[in-house]
Amino acid sequence: METHTLYKDELTWHPACQTDHVPEDGGACVLLGGRQIAIFNFSRRGEWYATDNECPHRQQMVLSRGMIGSQGDEPKVACPFHKKTFSLKTGDCLNDDGHTIATFPIKVVDGMVYIGV
Ligand code: FES
Repeated sequence: METHTLYKDELTWHPACQTDHVPEDGGACVLLGGRQIAIFNFSRRGEWYATDNECPHRQQMVLSRGMIGSQGDEPKVACPFHKKTFSLKTGDCLNDDGHTIATFPIKVVDGMVYIGV
């Protein structure tokens, strides 16, 4: 039987925005294929992350404006409304089991941010 494994090289990388459009230690929202994606420039850690912009708690499009930080070694974003916090790596909610957000591969090349789908 033939099996198929998705390798990172099989992702399609979509240009999302220029790096200087995303504030240091902050986020920005881009529209990709009709879906709002939150992009985070976690400059304190030298890392970039991409997640859904929608907070699943009350379906608010706000996560790009959330406060980012670390819980232990886990990078996270806190929704500005009711402070549910989500891992930027896995999308799991760290203070409420019932919610998860999607996360996306992200890379920066020559001042451009790319999202992998
Ligand atoms: S809408 Fe995000 S925590 Fe309530």
